[in-house]
Amino acid sequence: MDLHAASPALPAGPTTPSGDVLYFPTEDAARLEPHLPPLSSSQSQQTQTRPFVTLTFATSLDSSLSLAPGVRTVLSGPQSKAMTHYLRSRHAAILVGVGTAIADDPGLNCRISSATSNPRAIVIDPLARWSLTEESKVLQLAKAGQGLAPFIFVSDAAEVSLESKEWLQRFGGKYVFVKSFMDGGGSVRFHWEDVLAAVQGEGLDSIMVEGGGQIINSLLTPPNNRLIDSVIVTIAPTWLGQGGVVVSPPRVEGEKAAPLRLTDVSWHPLGEDVVLCGKILKI
Ligand SMILES: NC(=O)c1ccc[n+]([C@@H]2O[C@H](COP(=O)([O-])OP(=O)(O)OC[C@H]3O[C@@H](n4cnc5c(N)ncnc54)[C@H](OP(=O)(O)O)[C@@H]3O)[C@@H](O)[C@H]2O)c1
Repeated sequence: MDLHAASPALPAGPTTPSGDVLYFPTEDAARLEPHLPPLSSSQSQQTQTRPFVTLTFATSLDSSLSLAPGVRTVLSGPQSKAMTHYLRSRHAAILVGVGTAIADDPGLNCRISSATSNPRAIVIDPLARWSLTEESKVLQLAKAGQGLAPFIFVSDAAEVSLESKEWLQRFGGKYVFVKSFMDGGGSVRFHWEDVLAAVQGEGLDSIMVEGGGQIINSLLTPPNNRLIDSVIVTIAPTWLGQGGVVVSPPRVEGEKAAPLRLTDVSWHPLGEDVVLCGKILKI
């Protein structure tokens, strides 16, 4: 899910396991600071009962994350790519759904030059559908000391063999069992409070939710969106057209329903993209 590269809106080609080292200017970082988790972990532990949650993704002008489900799509430019990696350097964990893990074979590490550690990759995979192998980018990076092996959040309905658990542990990763429920459509789902409690239980005090579409729409759905502390969206100057993976949470109906919107908003041009920062307006 490295969404960013020089040429916009093209299916992405293969990347090297390690990739390049990225630089994000201090003055740009300073502008993002009000939207990021507290710098001191002791400060955040004292004030927070759950991890600080940043929702962040790159979108087209027609709210698409990718050309189609399962298609890794280059959206934004080099500056916003560096910003994403800077954001990773400022969070303890990165979260993606299994759809993204399967589609993109993401590295989920941090390549920013000033970073001293990597975030923990968390994959939401209730049925353990992800066939992680030693060739998967995230494990290649972990083996090279350039990233951390993933924690895969699974439900009781997942069949995970002892052998698989031990294999993943050898790389420093693990399967984490999270309480689940069956939604109206018969899918096994987690409550976001339980996901965040499990993140906190692993000693991770901040998390960046990066995608994909189902994960973002699920987190934006009321009342889940009250758990989001910060929203940072990169908007690329391109339309992907119909059929893409779209960010559009379900509309709340009823007398008191109001459109979901951001407050405390700021806009930051980065190359040809613009980065929108804000907080969910709590009504
Ligand atoms: N532009 C960007 O910033 C960006 C970022 C990330 C990804 N992407 C793109 O997004 C696309 C993938 O998006 P996607 O919507 O297909 O997949 P996704 O959101 O990554 O993963 C969806 C899966 O996650 C699980 N899931 C979702 N919500 C859940 C919940 N509340 N509880 C438990 N499990 C939950 C479900 O697994 P089960 O089906 O097993 O139940 C679901 O199928 C890819 O093309 C990728 O390139 C773009």
